[in-house]
Amino acid sequence: MTHTVTTSPAADTSHASRALTVEHLWKVFGPKADKIIGTADADLPRPELLDKTGCVAAVKDISFEVATGEIFVVMGLSGSGKSTLVRCLTRLIEPTAGTVTMDGRDITHASDGDLRDLRRNHVSMVFQHFGLLPHRQVIDNVAYGLEIRGVGKAERRKKAGEIVDLVGLTGNEHSYPDQLSGGMQQRVGLARALASDPTLLLFDEPFSALDPLIRRDMQNEVIRLQGDLKKTMVFITHDLAEALKLGDRILIMRDGEVVQVGTPADVVAHPANDYVRDFVSDVPRSHVLTLRYVMRDPRPDDSREGPVMSSDTIVRQAARAALASEHVVQVVDDGKLVGIVDDDAILRIVVAEESVPA
Ligand SMILES: Nc1ncnc2c1ncn2[C@@H]1O[C@H](COP(=O)(O)OP(=O)(O)OP(=O)(O)O)[C@@H](O)[C@H]1O
Ligand SMILES: [Mg+2]
Repeated sequence: MTHTVTTSPAADTSHASRALTVEHLWKVFGPKADKIIGTADADLPRPELLDKTGCVAAVKDISFEVATGEIFVVMGLSGSGKSTLVRCLTRLIEPTAGTVTMDGRDITHASDGDLRDLRRNHVSMVFQHFGLLPHRQVIDNVAYGLEIRGVGKAERRKKAGEIVDLVGLTGNEHSYPDQLSGGMQQRVGLARALASDPTLLLFDEPFSALDPLIRRDMQNEVIRLQGDLKKTMVFITHDLAEALKLGDRILIMRDGEVVQVGTPADVVAHPANDYVRDFVSDVPRSHVLTLRYVMRDPRPDDSREGPVMSSDTIVRQAARAALASEHVVQVVDDGKLVGIVDDDAILRIVVAEESVPA
């Protein structure tokens, strides 16, 4: 097999489909932080490590990969190390150890000039506190990244105008940030991040200050933009529902470490340990699980007259047609029968949910 995309002679060609690779990343805050890694102290629980050494291991030996066009969610409770992790990706915080590779470029050893280029031209960040420039109109806030890049005024305003329309702020170009609601301000933050046409977008809890309805709108906006623009996104949240809604895959963090990485359905169907099981125990499974998780092997006597669905159909979406039919559901991927779903399999999930008091 030949690959046309190679980043360096030594590069593993399968990296081409990976926007981001993180390998054994550590961030230890405190005195002599780099002396901790590789010693028994690194395995101490946080309070003991702090007592003994004065250090906090905010990110502990984290590795993961993000595919091009994927929405990769990092979820964990407050203090689990999410912001530290995402800031280490572009070296806004200097990692203590490990490597970060973006589109084949080794970020961890990049020069200051390369890092500037990376932050200006390839990666954008959206923060919880929108960080807008208060004395600038929406249009010039959105154009800010282009201005830094040296794009002329007419061109950057034209580009910014297009992005303002894209995020649903048409008509507000000449408002100032304090004249906008929180949700609208975060749309400006999103527009500003998109204006420089980055390949990778990093979100650090961008919607946690918004009220629930606006938050839902913004989540839908991210899904829509992702569908249209196919950007790679790393999205930080402490909210499980948000993680399940947005994530193609979710990485669950606890005390600086990875607890589990998987699709929303993986995490709900096969929690890696009691911590995750507890976390996902209230999730309505029919909203997350796909037919892949409820199907059984086909048998010769199975009817072939029932509905045909793919294995990534969400159970809730399959339920009505499945239960209405007198025949079992045939689960077919790429023209091949991969499983059968009978009414019992659907009912076990749907009825179990309805009998749990809210
Ligand atoms: N500059 C720093 N110096 C020392 N310790 C730090 C520093 N920054 C973060 N920490 C510690 O590292 C740990 C992880 O913090 P981090 O901000 O990454 O967590 P988080 O998951 O983003 O939390 P939140 O959900 O509250 O934003 C915490 O224990 C925090 O106190
Ligand atoms: Mg944080």
